[in-house]
Amino acid sequence: MHTVTIHQVPVLQVGEGCAEAAGAWLVGRGCRRALAVSGRSVRPVLERLCDRWHREGLETVVLPPVPAEPTVRQYEELWREARRHEVDAVLGLGGGSVLDVAKLLAALLKRDEPVTEFFGIDRLPGRGLMLVCVPTTAGTGSEVSPNAILLDETVWLKQGVISRYLVPDAAFVDPELTYSVPPPVTAATGFDALTHCIEAYANRRAHPWVDMWALQGIRWIGAHLLRAVQDGRDREARRFVALGSLCGGLCLGPVNTAAVHALAYPLGGRFRVPHGVANAVLLPHVLRYNLEAALDRYAEVARALGVPAGRDERSTAAEGLARLEDLSRACGLPRGLSALGVRREDLPGMARAALQVQRLLRNNPRSLEEGDILAIYEAAF
Ligand SMILES: [Fe+2]
Repeated sequence: MHTVTIHQVPVLQVGEGCAEAAGAWLVGRGCRRALAVSGRSVRPVLERLCDRWHREGLETVVLPPVPAEPTVRQYEELWREARRHEVDAVLGLGGGSVLDVAKLLAALLKRDEPVTEFFGIDRLPGRGLMLVCVPTTAGTGSEVSPNAILLDETVWLKQGVISRYLVPDAAFVDPELTYSVPPPVTAATGFDALTHCIEAYANRRAHPWVDMWALQGIRWIGAHLLRAVQDGRDREARRFVALGSLCGGLCLGPVNTAAVHALAYPLGGRFRVPHGVANAVLLPHVLRYNLEAALDRYAEVARALGVPAGRDERSTAAEGLARLEDLSRACGLPRGLSALGVRREDLPGMARAALQVQRLLRNNPRSLEEGDILAIYEAAF
């Protein structure tokens, strides 16, 4: 067994209503003025929570909304705005893009270097500010991960800052905040979380300790995602999808994702396809390519999805793949790249771009050359 190093969130609160406790938690750590980072759609929730936190002694400076899938330039505008204020903590409340920006701001607000200097693994020297993350979607698991992703418009590719210093000081996972997420976003973010778990489990760097979270995440999301899409106020479904998303986030630091995410990045970069949608469309096609290289792993994924044991591992694994396609269809997710605005002549350029994401491709159970990536894109077209 190889060694994994796990940088965990020191304080994790999980449960309905727990987001309200985030302000008092910061006050209890000596914080008086927090930079509140959020997206436009959760402004009413943020205002309600800020009112409560003010009464508990936490002042908040609310940053302009973080756009979906932010670019480096958009991040830098927020960074410049944030530097005008004196704060002792950063509090992110939102989906993955919001939490990623909050994490970067907590690390870089007091530094002068551009964020691009820190793209890559372990390049951050530390973090200047206390950081609390409160997810409002069940998908990225960013609240517990060491990753932050921005769209680098110079190369039209998602770039990541990966560092232990991006793991927050506290995360508050409150399923109630996801009740108002509309069905298409619930479906896409849920498939992102499911993909984190599947890619961490069928992964060259898979580890038994991380397998535990990955399989449990697959079980919870597989059993509850469709219910959460069909009825956003289904408390039980929302709870277990949120827990599954948390499982996926816990896998991201020590093992991380693989080819589905690598191939999804050019879709987010060039075509601004939401991250979860890109993953959902590519997942069955990458898994079909990978299947023979990790039959036992994909058979276990199938069992975690509720597939009964088949004749052999191959048939069980194939049944799991069919189950994923059924779930994607039932959740109303798009079926192919052509439905996302991609043209066939775009595919070779996308394959060249995806090949650059070696930090994830090297995790994949089966190696991929440029021609393999192009073939997967064509199958997914
Ligand atoms: Fe993801």
